[in-house]
Amino acid sequence: PADLFLPRLNSAGLSPADVESLHRLKAGLADFRFSSWQAGLPPDAAADGILATPRHSPADRHRLLGAVHGMNEGDVDQAYRQVRQAFPDWTRTPVSRRADCLRTLAVKLEEHRTELLYLLMMEGGKVLADAWSEWREAVDLCRYYADCAETLMAPRPLPGIAGEVNTLNWAGRGVFLCISPWNFPLAIFLGQVAAALVTGNTVLCKPASQTSLIAARVVALLHDAGIPHEALHAIYGAGRDLGNALTDHPALAGIVFTGSTATARHLNLQLARRPGPLVPLIAETGGLNAMIADSSALPEQLTIDILQSAFNSAGQRCSALRILWLQEDLKNPLLDRLEGALKSWRTGAPTLLASDMGPLIDTAALAQLQHHCTVTGHKALWKAAGTLTDAAEGHYFPPHAFLLHPMDLPDQEVFGPVLHIATWKAGELDKVIGRINASGYGLTLGMHSRIPAHIRQVQEQARVGNLYINRNQIGAVVESQPFGGEGLSGTGFKAGGPHYLMRFCVERTVTENL
Ligand code: NAD
Ligand code: ALA
Repeated sequence: PADLFLPRLNSAGLSPADVESLHRLKAGLADFRFSSWQAGLPPDAAADGILATPRHSPADRHRLLGAVHGMNEGDVDQAYRQVRQAFPDWTRTPVSRRADCLRTLAVKLEEHRTELLYLLMMEGGKVLADAWSEWREAVDLCRYYADCAETLMAPRPLPGIAGEVNTLNWAGRGVFLCISPWNFPLAIFLGQVAAALVTGNTVLCKPASQTSLIAARVVALLHDAGIPHEALHAIYGAGRDLGNALTDHPALAGIVFTGSTATARHLNLQLARRPGPLVPLIAETGGLNAMIADSSALPEQLTIDILQSAFNSAGQRCSALRILWLQEDLKNPLLDRLEGALKSWRTGAPTLLASDMGPLIDTAALAQLQHHCTVTGHKALWKAAGTLTDAAEGHYFPPHAFLLHPMDLPDQEVFGPVLHIATWKAGELDKVIGRINASGYGLTLGMHSRIPAHIRQVQEQARVGNLYINRNQIGAVVESQPFGGEGLSGTGFKAGGPHYLMRFCVERTVTENL
């Protein structure tokens, strides 16, 4: 199964040379040695008595990766003041200069590839193929948003009566707060920050506490690429502990958030209670993603696409498949194949290059999934699970699959390598689409079918942001597959798409009487 990933990665933008160097990297990473990483700590922290929390790897609880200094409300206030002061200069900087900083950053990300991949594997728990595709996405986002900003922010002449000139202008809003999750600690973290900066905002970024070290490396690279120190500040620590300080500050002009639907709701409430100007919230949130397979689906391809969609990145993708709707006559051949495939699926250390899947991010995630699988297992009509191939002391949890009665399917996102399966009969496609829409989530949907009428029906009726037909449903490619959901899954605009930068800006119309 490990090698199955290569063709798909290739079609998602890897050149043959990339595949070649991926193989070389396998050898290089095995020898990679690091000194230490830290986040939020000045160089003389120890002398100043600043406390730091050690960061261990989710892949191995004994593996010390570095240290993080969690910040407090006073630090947040100070950071806000600094980035607010920097706003006038940064927003007057020509968009071409800001865009060039992102292009320089793309080169730096390429130069620091091994270190970033290593951090994604050791702090993020990703296997090499997943780390690689995330790193590629980050590089692509820098170049894409640089180009988009130059196009979007060029003043646009508008029609008007003789003697009057109308133009539409775009500008940054002020201080943007960027809050990101741990599951894409490089691409989503950087995508948000890059978008906010290139459109002329100054930025306070709050990465997930689980992946502070990766964020700290990226912030250092952003500064090296020419982003002024005053224009970008990172806040490390748990969001819940800093919540009000982050959202109540009078300098706040916009929030871009990616994470759970519950946290997005909380932020929305916080913003509604604020006095003063209205602040936009761009939110990309969770999914309860389904795949529909009808009797015309090809079982071999379907099995591979299910495995990748549900278990790639240990199921810790917002796009991951959670509920598979199988047409009844596919049930037996598919469940047999799935059972066999799970047996050979390798859950182990990310540094073991044969691993298909690494650990969960932390002990809380592990406990939640163990509980979910115990409860679900009691209701299951059929079940199968993988085994652990590595005994390292990390947060490992093998993939699980359960066949359930439709009424026992989950109604909330289950964030990990757990696949829920239900069946449907010929003539029930309407009902299945209705169930999927009724969940309220609308992120990804997979469809396996060779029946044009079925494909058309799903395309017309399903309310989802990203529909994938006859392939897996993860790994959206920048520019080709703009990514993001609707309903409980987010507000848009889509990341990696042509409209993403718009909500980071204000639009100003100027009319001049000549
Ligand atoms: P989370 O909501 O727990 O945390 C996300 C971020 O919000 C973290 O930085 C966290 O520290 C911060 N945060 C939490 N509470 C806060 C508060 N009260 N005030 C301010 N900040 C706060 O989500 P997570 O567990 O880090 O990430 C997993 C979730 O993200 C899943 O639901 C997944 O589906 C979703 N996700 C969505 C997308 C997408 O594009 N739609 C992409 C990746 C992940
Ligand atoms: N953009 C990521 C994917 O498509 C979340 O899997």
